Amino acid sequence: MAKITITVPATSANVGAGFDALGLAVSMHNVFTFEESDRIQISSVDGTHVPAGANNLVFRSARAVYDQLGIPLKGLRITQRNDIPMARGLGSSSACIVAGILGANALLGGRLTKRQMLTLATAIEGHPDNVAPAMLGGFVTSVYDEGQVYTVKKDIDTDLAFAAFVPDFRLLTAKARAALPQMISHKDAVYNLSRAALATAAFCDGDYNLLGVATKDALHQQYRLPLIPGGDEMFEFAQDLGALAVYISGAGPTIMAVVHRDNDEFFQRAEAELGQHEKLKHFTVYRLLADNTGATVQ
Ligand code: HSE
Repeated sequence: MAKITITVPATSANVGAGFDALGLAVSMHNVFTFEESDRIQISSVDGTHVPAGANNLVFRSARAVYDQLGIPLKGLRITQRNDIPMARGLGSSSACIVAGILGANALLGGRLTKRQMLTLATAIEGHPDNVAPAMLGGFVTSVYDEGQVYTVKKDIDTDLAFAAFVPDFRLLTAKARAALPQMISHKDAVYNLSRAALATAAFCDGDYNLLGVATKDALHQQYRLPLIPGGDEMFEFAQDLGALAVYISGAGPTIMAVVHRDNDEFFQRAEAELGQHEKLKHFTVYRLLADNTGATVQ
């Protein structure tokens, strides 16, 4: 019986001003296997706790494919290797959703197109900015309009690196979204739309000196920083070390810094100094590169 292996990258959504629209894929991955089975058998291969029943997000996402195609599903045998830390703003849920959809689609002979799968993933996640780069890799601009997802993917320059400062606590996206105001001013809307456009153009053109201003935001970061102890200090720390840009990754609590790949000093100092800083010692820094491939099916 066929065993399908799906590898999905971590993703960093919003990229500052591009709330629910921009996202990029980085070199940290979860690996999932899928086999047909007449019952639900789900296990983690790395000791991480994962729900073992029908409520498991990978299984639920796989089932959505069977439902869409009108094919009955009794069970699946799924294994998960979870290298992406959960509920940290690095797209661990999106990785599960994308894996479930790609795994089920592969088991069923590849009946859905990438666009259909992306639309399904977005419907499950609620916004496209993690699932799109998880599936496509690179830097992705997405719009969800009347039930359809529209994306443009651009490879990320391999001269860039990403420093993910991951704290030792979880922050659920629902809580981080609940902290946002219902209404925003016209001024704040203009502040963000101009920067989201500039960030996209800067990534496309390789004009990275623009990223500092282009990733500033007025829609979500100021409301979420109070939920991230040490968050303000982390911004300052990464900026002082010479980051090109610093932003809350997704809904947080990870703080992401964009740096030149050859900036070894940034990473050496970050590793050496984090632990000495009373307000930052609960953060761990991960040195990541872009993933321009996206999810793979084998
Ligand atoms: N755009 C989303 C948010 C990403 O900021 O809430 C989190 O998954």
